[in-house]
Amino acid sequence: MAKTPDITIKTPEEIEKMRVAGRLAAEVLDMIGPYVKPGVTTDELDRICHDYIINEQQAIPAPLGYGQPPFPKSICTSVNHVICHGIPGDKVLKKGDAINIDITVIKDGYHGDTSKMFFAGEPSVAGKRLSMITQQCLYLGIRQVRPGAKFGDIGRAIERHAHANHYSVVEEFCGHGIGSRFHEAPQILHYYSKDSDKISMEPGMIFTIEPMINQGKRHLKILPDQWTAVTKDHKLSAQWEHTILVTQDGFEILTLRAEEAGWQDHL
Ligand code: MF3
Ligand code: CO
Ligand code: CO
Repeated sequence: MAKTPDITIKTPEEIEKMRVAGRLAAEVLDMIGPYVKPGVTTDELDRICHDYIINEQQAIPAPLGYGQPPFPKSICTSVNHVICHGIPGDKVLKKGDAINIDITVIKDGYHGDTSKMFFAGEPSVAGKRLSMITQQCLYLGIRQVRPGAKFGDIGRAIERHAHANHYSVVEEFCGHGIGSRFHEAPQILHYYSKDSDKISMEPGMIFTIEPMINQGKRHLKILPDQWTAVTKDHKLSAQWEHTILVTQDGFEILTLRAEEAGWQDHL
């Protein structure tokens, strides 16, 4: 089996720091939930998260200044047909809007990365169903994680469930190794590819799984801000993300929230 030398195996000390960073990122999602209501702007959500991460957590919001051009805000807010990397601004949420909030914090030099879907007020039937199936895709992907499993197992499980529900899988963005760097090797595809069957999971690897699932076709375009990815057909898109550690006998979800207790029973 070919090994990929640039996938880092984390030491026990690094794993402990990743647990802390993951827990902090999850706590930001718990904290922001009550603020997601009709009438709030995505800028207000960004400011609340920014202040919480800096002042309460004494951590760093990883998106701020990241990449080229530098991402201008501290969180990503992706509303309705926005697939990912939505930039907070003066957009006002209205009743029924679906929004993915993606949080990445740096604590003690290590990253925790997680996102979930929220609704402003009562969700639409279509939005709720897409969000639920996408969350199931994430969990089905996570369930593949164990030493010796192939990265292709994750993509296969996600793609199968999305397609069974007549949705499509975004291919241009993927999950990623994570640690002292925001985005490390390997890339975690959310669809099946032969290439991803070449690499086996090993204890101590840490990576994200973050499927983006579309109601219509998978195709996207990037807006002139060079960040915001939207569906070409302007139909809905949903995303859920966790940071996962490969353990001796399976996985540990470093960004698990209390509300997810018992998630394996709901698949
Ligand atoms: N958090 C995103 C991810 O899951 C990356 C956002 S990059 C940013 O990988 F610059 F937009 F923050
Ligand atoms: Co990520
Ligand atoms: Co993320």
